[in-house]
Amino acid sequence: MICQNLRLLNFRNYSEAELALRPGVNILLGGNGSGKTNLLEGLYFLAHLSGFRADRDSALLKRGAKSLFVEGRFVSDTGAQLEAEVRFAGGKKYLRVNGAPVLKQADYWGRVPLYLFSPASMELLWGEPARRRDLWDGEIAKFSPAFRKDLANYKTAWLSRNRVLKRMQQGRGDSETRALLKFYTDSLRLSGSSVVFERLKFLREVLHSLDEYYHQLTTEKFHLRANYSASIGKLSREVSLSDVREAYSRRLKEVAERERERGFTLAGPHRDDVRFYLGDIAIGNFASQGQVRAATIALMLTLARIYDKRTGEKPVLLLDDALSELDDRRKANLLAITQDFPQTVITSASNREIRGLLPLKPHLFAVADGTVRPVKAKTE
Ligand SMILES: Nc1ncnc2c1ncn2[C@@H]1O[C@H](COP(=O)(O)OP(=O)(O)O)[C@@H](O)[C@H]1O
Ligand SMILES: [Mg+2]
Repeated sequence: MICQNLRLLNFRNYSEAELALRPGVNILLGGNGSGKTNLLEGLYFLAHLSGFRADRDSALLKRGAKSLFVEGRFVSDTGAQLEAEVRFAGGKKYLRVNGAPVLKQADYWGRVPLYLFSPASMELLWGEPARRRDLWDGEIAKFSPAFRKDLANYKTAWLSRNRVLKRMQQGRGDSETRALLKFYTDSLRLSGSSVVFERLKFLREVLHSLDEYYHQLTTEKFHLRANYSASIGKLSREVSLSDVREAYSRRLKEVAERERERGFTLAGPHRDDVRFYLGDIAIGNFASQGQVRAATIALMLTLARIYDKRTGEKPVLLLDDALSELDDRRKANLLAITQDFPQTVITSASNREIRGLLPLKPHLFAVADGTVRPVKAKTE
């Protein structure tokens, strides 16, 4: 997939901007605060329907504006055109694909394959577990409608079950309530086991490439690993679906009494985590900025590769401030990897930093104060 054209209206510091991207390497060049990252965020918004530095969508509105509009023209590897539009107004998003409205966000999800590294994404590895659960679930959901259904069923079962447990906690344990608890427990166990099983399967796939990419980006001797931490008990990575179900049943029995005391569900995928380690040490605890940066880029490249393997479509790569802390050899390695993808968009604040990229014949764009325009590379 490549993006041919991006158009922004009232997005971040852009009143109106158009960016005609090219296949291959695109570099957005400009001083600090000029709006390079905002352009990447515009592209990201088209893919994910959210910003990557914004807690609220309204933060994406140009200061003082009441609505924003982002439009992207994409071409898939097979040559098919994809035009995606998102308008955000009055707290709501209005989506269109190839001119036709898309009413449900779930039907839009995964249509624009795009993977981003930004310093903000480093929080993925050491921030709240919920971020990693969402990342994992979001990726799997891109390929699997069955998983989307399991996830939705799980959420319904979990929340409904919590209501029933709350009632029991307050002393209302009549037979109807007990029957309801059994019903939701069965549903929780079935959908929850599938969610855990698919997450483990995805983790195995991630582990195929993760450490290899990591070592292309650092001189580190530690191995980058990841582990699934399950609230239903320790699971081997090769576990079968029926084993997961059994483990879940066992765990639910163990915690049954405590759940009634506390009034909510104590075991299931909503309490799990995917933890990253360098050697034996959890990455959140001791890793340096440089290590987390390389690990995050490695994870992003791994997810992009899996997307390609599963769908046959190579995603667009977005690299925000990714080059600044890599030495020349690692920089060259990263750029060699990006050559496997049809389009990369890189931001950089310095001409010096991108000098090594000139042999790749990048397309340069000058970003200044909420404007962007193509420029010719200076070949000294
Ligand atoms: N919602 C917004 N409305 C107007 N300007 C914004 C908004 N959000 C961010 N900005 C401005 O965008 C600029 C930062 O742009 P950014 O893309 O992060 O720059 P950089 O080129 O350093 O990546 C800052 O000047 C900031 O004030
Ligand atoms: Mg920036």
